[in-house]
Amino acid sequence: MSQHLAGMALPAITLGTGLRPPEDVQRLVGWALDMGYRSFDTAALYGTEAAIGRAIRDSGIDRRELFITVKVRGNEYGSRERVHQAIERSLDSLDTSFADMVVPHWPLPMLRALPSTFTQMLDAREEGLVRGVGVSNASAAMVRAVRTETGEWPAMNQLHLSPIVGQADFTRFAGTVPVRIQAYRVLEAGSGLMQSRVISELSQQYGCSPAQLLVGWQLGRGHKVVLGASNLEQLRANLDSRPLQLTPADSHRLSRLDRFSLAKPDPVTHFEL
Ligand SMILES: NC(=O)c1ccc[n+]([C@@H]2O[C@H](COP(=O)([O-])OP(=O)(O)OC[C@H]3O[C@@H](n4cnc5c(N)ncnc54)[C@H](OP(=O)(O)O)[C@@H]3O)[C@@H](O)[C@H]2O)c1
Repeated sequence: MSQHLAGMALPAITLGTGLRPPEDVQRLVGWALDMGYRSFDTAALYGTEAAIGRAIRDSGIDRRELFITVKVRGNEYGSRERVHQAIERSLDSLDTSFADMVVPHWPLPMLRALPSTFTQMLDAREEGLVRGVGVSNASAAMVRAVRTETGEWPAMNQLHLSPIVGQADFTRFAGTVPVRIQAYRVLEAGSGLMQSRVISELSQQYGCSPAQLLVGWQLGRGHKVVLGASNLEQLRANLDSRPLQLTPADSHRLSRLDRFSLAKPDPVTHFEL
């Protein structure tokens, strides 16, 4: 069974708030709300929930127009009480009564807790704390196990996906099941990808910036994107990104950049609480 998110669709572009000081996040989210962003991603780990809450309050925008994703840390997995309390702490910080999406931040298969945590999050949905339940950084096998053990598909999988981290297994799998991909690190900022010859040639060819080429490629393949920005110009350019239908040959030029067919770090071994 696929999740209906109480009538809300997962937005195409979400503003990420990881690895940024709260005062920057409050300013960026305020600008983003003014220019039309309506979807925001946070996590207990990021320490940005309260800053997002303040920016939303200052904007005066109706909470029901927004889509907010929260994440529960691995050190809260284990019991229904802990998971529910973790969600409630996030909601308190955000100053809201519900989240639109909740995910366990990492699958942590060594804890053997992903399906049970997912079930506890489905309970939280029944109680109205969240509207949808997804996963993050999960492999196809992990998502299949969630479905087998809980009877429900995650609404989405938020995962690292870019030309360099191609995730061929998961993208193939996602094409056959009702699980949306929400891609992060699509720009591979800091890696030199945006400055590479292939990205600069393709962005000229498609009449957009390198960042918009990378975002537009994912949107054109039917994926959602979560990405951050450092300033007004980047916020605007990212929100203005449109789905791009690359020719098969151009798409192949991007796919050929894949250096890690699997996720990096590997979700099977990555340990983070
Ligand atoms: N679930 C998970 O485990 C997980 C892991 C990582 C991230 N996330 C989520 O995904 C979000 C995005 O993270 P990310 O790692 O993918 O970072 P990102 O958003 O790809 O990178 C942000 C950086 O990219 C550059 N940038 C953004 N827009 C640009 C543009 N239009 N043109 C040129 N450069 C641009 C900026 O770098 P400069 O500052 O150098 O200009 C900015 O600081 C996070 O905030 C978080 O919400 C989730």
